[in-house]
Amino acid sequence: MSHVPNVLIIGTGGVGSIVAYGIDYLNKSNLAIVVRRDYEKVKSQGYDVESVDYGTVKGWKPSKIFPSVEAASKGGVVFDFVVIATKNLPDIVKVEELADSVITPGKTVVVLVQNGFDLGRPFFAKYPENVILSSVTYIGSHNSQGAIHQTQSDKSFIGFFENPHLPKRIQEKKAKDYISIYKNDKNNCTYVPDTKTHRYRKLVYNATMNTVCAITGVDTGRVEFAGGLETLCIPAMKEVIAVAKADGVDLPADVINDTIHGDDGDWFEPSMLVDVKKGNPIELEVILGNLLLVAKELHVETPVLTMLYNLLKVIQFRLKEQQGTVVLPKDRPIYDKIYS
Ligand SMILES: *[C@@H]1O[C@H](CO)[C@@H](O)[C@H](O)[C@H]1NC(C)=O
Ligand SMILES: *[C@@H]1O[C@H](CO)[C@@H](O)[C@H](O)[C@H]1NC(C)=O
Ligand SMILES: *[C@@H]1O[C@H](CO)[C@@H](O)[C@H](O)[C@H]1NC(C)=O
Ligand SMILES: *[C@@H]1O[C@H](CO)[C@@H](O)[C@H](O)[C@H]1NC(C)=O
Repeated sequence: MSHVPNVLIIGTGGVGSIVAYGIDYLNKSNLAIVVRRDYEKVKSQGYDVESVDYGTVKGWKPSKIFPSVEAASKGGVVFDFVVIATKNLPDIVKVEELADSVITPGKTVVVLVQNGFDLGRPFFAKYPENVILSSVTYIGSHNSQGAIHQTQSDKSFIGFFENPHLPKRIQEKKAKDYISIYKNDKNNCTYVPDTKTHRYRKLVYNATMNTVCAITGVDTGRVEFAGGLETLCIPAMKEVIAVAKADGVDLPADVINDTIHGDDGDWFEPSMLVDVKKGNPIELEVILGNLLLVAKELHVETPVLTMLYNLLKVIQFRLKEQQGTVVLPKDRPIYDKIYS
C-alpha cells in the first residue's frame, strides 16, 4: 500500500474493540471508530482495556471517534477499509445498508468480522466492484460501558468472500493488505485461502448444536445426555455436509466426530442459546437462513435443518416482540384465508 490506509471500525463490542485496539497498536493506519452506545464516555475518557493479549491499558482512545456511521461519512475521508464487527441480523438491520454511506464503490474493502455463512452475497449485489473480506475470529472479550475485558487471545482467520466480478488475485492481495495492518506481535492472524470451506466447517457446529441448544434451552452436554445428538444434531450435521458437497466442498470424514468432541468436558452454552436466554435476537438468518438458500439452489433436501429453522423463526419473532421491534395489535385480526 502506497499511503497510510484509512480504516473505520463499526461495532465496538467485545470483539470489535479488541480488533480496533490491535490495529491501533500496530500504528500502520489512520483509525476511526463508530461508538454508538457509550459515545460520550468513550469520547471523554477512552476505553479501559484489561487484555490477555495487550495487558492493562487505561483510557485508550483512537484518534477519531464518531457517534454514528453518518457522522463518520461526513468527515470527507475515503475509507480504504471498513471493518464491521456488529452482530449480523439482516431481518432487523441489513449490514450493507448500515455501512452504505462509508463505502466507496470500487474502492473500500469491507471486512466482515461476523458469524454466519455466505455473507458476501448482499454486498456483491450492491457493490459489484468491491472486495469483501471474511474474518472468522475466535476471542473471549466483553465490552461493558467502555470497560473491555479480554479473557481469551485473539485468533483470526482472514480470507475473501469470492466476488465473481473480480480476479481472485486482487481479492487475495486485499486480504493480505488487511492482515498487514492488523497482525501484530500479540494477536494470531492467519490467511485462509478458502473462506467457503472454512465457513462450512464452522456451520457443522453452528447450524446444528447451536440451533438445537437455542430451541431446547439446554447446553451441549445436556443435549448429549438427553439423546439429542443422535436424534437431532447428527442428522442435521449430515445435511450441512451434503449441502457443502453439492457446493463443491468436501468436508473431512471425521468432521462430525471432531465437532462433537470439540465441547468435551464443557457444559457449553453456544452463542445462540446465550442470546435466547438474554432475550436478544438470534443470528438465525446468517447462520441457517443463508445455508438453506444455498441448499435450495443446489436442490439438496434438508428436512431437519428446515424444521430447526422454522422453529427458530418463531422463537425469533418472540424475541423481537419482547424487544419491541415487532408490535402486534391488541385485538387479534381475523383473516378469511382458507386453510387446508
Ligand atoms: C505505536 O506508536 C506509539 C506512539 O507513537 C508507540 O508508543 C508504540 O510503541 C507504537 N507501537 C508499535 C507496535 O510500534
Ligand atoms: C496461530 O494459529 C495458527 C492456526 O491455528 C497456528 O498454527 C499457530 O501455531 C498459531 N501461532 C501462535 C503464535 O499461536
Ligand atoms: C473421535 O474424536 C476423538 C476425540 O478427538 C478421538 O479420540 C477419536 O480417535 C476420534 N475417532 C474417530 C473414529 O475419528
Ligand atoms: C459459531 O461457532 C463458534 C465455534 O465453532 C462459536 O465460537 C461462535 O460463537 C458461534 N457463533 C454463533 C453465532 O453461534
